[in-house]
Amino acid sequence: MKNNHIITIDGPSASGKGSLAKALAKELSFILLDSGLLYRAYSYCFEQSHNHSAAKSLFLNLRINSIDHEMHVFENNTDITSILRHENIAKSASQLSSLKETRDNLISFQRDLASDNGLVADGRDMGSVVFPNANLKFFLDAAPEVRAKRRHLELQKRGQEVNIHDLINDIVERDKKDRTRELSPLIKTEDSILLDSTNLDQESILDEALQHIKERNIL
Ligand code: C5P
Repeated sequence: MKNNHIITIDGPSASGKGSLAKALAKELSFILLDSGLLYRAYSYCFEQSHNHSAAKSLFLNLRINSIDHEMHVFENNTDITSILRHENIAKSASQLSSLKETRDNLISFQRDLASDNGLVADGRDMGSVVFPNANLKFFLDAAPEVRAKRRHLELQKRGQEVNIHDLINDIVERDKKDRTRELSPLIKTEDSILLDSTNLDQESILDEALQHIKERNIL
């Protein structure tokens, strides 16, 4: 496994991982791995085939590009990223992500994104399973109500209207599944740094993360 300059950010849904990962990738000129988007893309492929080997082939035919330090997924030259961000895809990704076939089909794809250009990897098992030797590991958390409000705002901005109470329930339910599943559960590894974004805005969290990066002198 290539292992140069890898920073992992794990944590529950809507804890601010995506924003922090994007900001860090931009700041450090690293590549961004949004592993949640890959699980969503895989589940999009699985829904078309209901079979893991067919889903893997479909997945490998998608094109993954970085645009403005964000991952985008293309199917036959159509950008399907916004489709993958829908809550129904999040639910099916969450279900499929507990299966060994799904995780096995995605692990080497994720590892292959590591290169000499540096990588910021955002997900649930980046520091625990995919990149256990990462240079620096963060675990980003926030209170469930705060996370649900953030996700609500994010979905509204994308024109998706969802009930905030349903969203809180969905987020709590998905987190529970992610934390208690047998394979690659969401855990804070002992060697990761806890960042709590409950009362901090994106800029303050970025400053805190950059401070740790400087202190560790990893760049
Ligand atoms: O982060 P995001 O909400 O896009 O992830 C969608 C789902 O994919 C999560 O609910 C989780 O079940 C799964 N996932 C995972 N491991 C990762 C990233 C995401 O199991 N590294």
